Amino acid sequence: MYSFFKNKKILITAGPTREYLDPVRYITNESSGKMGFAIAESLHQSGVEIRMVCGPVNLKTALPENKISSVITGNEMLFECQKYFTESEIVIFCAAVADYRPMEMANQKIKKDDSKLSIEFIKNPDIAFEFGKIKRPDQISIGFALETQNQIENAKSKMIKKNFDMIVLNSPNKNEGFGYDTNRITLISKNGTIHEIPLKTKKELANDIIHFASKI
Ligand code: PMT
Repeated sequence: MYSFFKNKKILITAGPTREYLDPVRYITNESSGKMGFAIAESLHQSGVEIRMVCGPVNLKTALPENKISSVITGNEMLFECQKYFTESEIVIFCAAVADYRPMEMANQKIKKDDSKLSIEFIKNPDIAFEFGKIKRPDQISIGFALETQNQIENAKSKMIKKNFDMIVLNSPNKNEGFGYDTNRITLISKNGTIHEIPLKTKKELANDIIHFASKI
């Protein structure tokens, strides 16, 4: 299956993003980067050329440092991916990018003067959607969907909206999704194939995802 990826450049996003309210506070999510790094490590070990763009994570990885671009915010992740998108034949969007960020970041630590604090948020760039608009026919993109309801339906509509060739559906349940070493996924291709995979380690699932992708 790795022969499909051989001589192709692969861009992978992973981890969370942080969106700052002030110099010491931010909103984020619980993505650990484990799923994205498992895919990147599996491909790298097989001699495939990868570029990992990841948000703040705390993982030990076998990937060489020069393969990893570390970013903090969604805007930084978009900017970093823009450097590698054109040359990449396959893009895997595994990052949990914050959908919104505070409209303004305070220059100083926000004081607790009032009993209430209102913060206005604006939409962050949707990296996968932006690249979906300019994707070439020779490029393949793989998205992820983290869903809590109408899972297959929502994942399929994300696949169409963001112009993915396949999507990996997962959920934030115990032992699944954010943070755990294990996950349970459903692979959905744009031609309608649906393949459910029971709970396994993220390392094992990385190989399942790579195998499925090589068949689309
Ligand atoms: O990192 P782990 O702890 O191992 O957890 C893995 C994971 C749960 C983070 C991963 O398996 C996963 O599901 N990643 C996508 C989470 C997510 O943000 O899903 P979404 O349904 O909101 O986004 C849909 C797709 O658009 C994703 O491919 C996402 O990377 C992409 N996206 C979303 C928002 C945005 N602003 N930019 C994006 O590129």
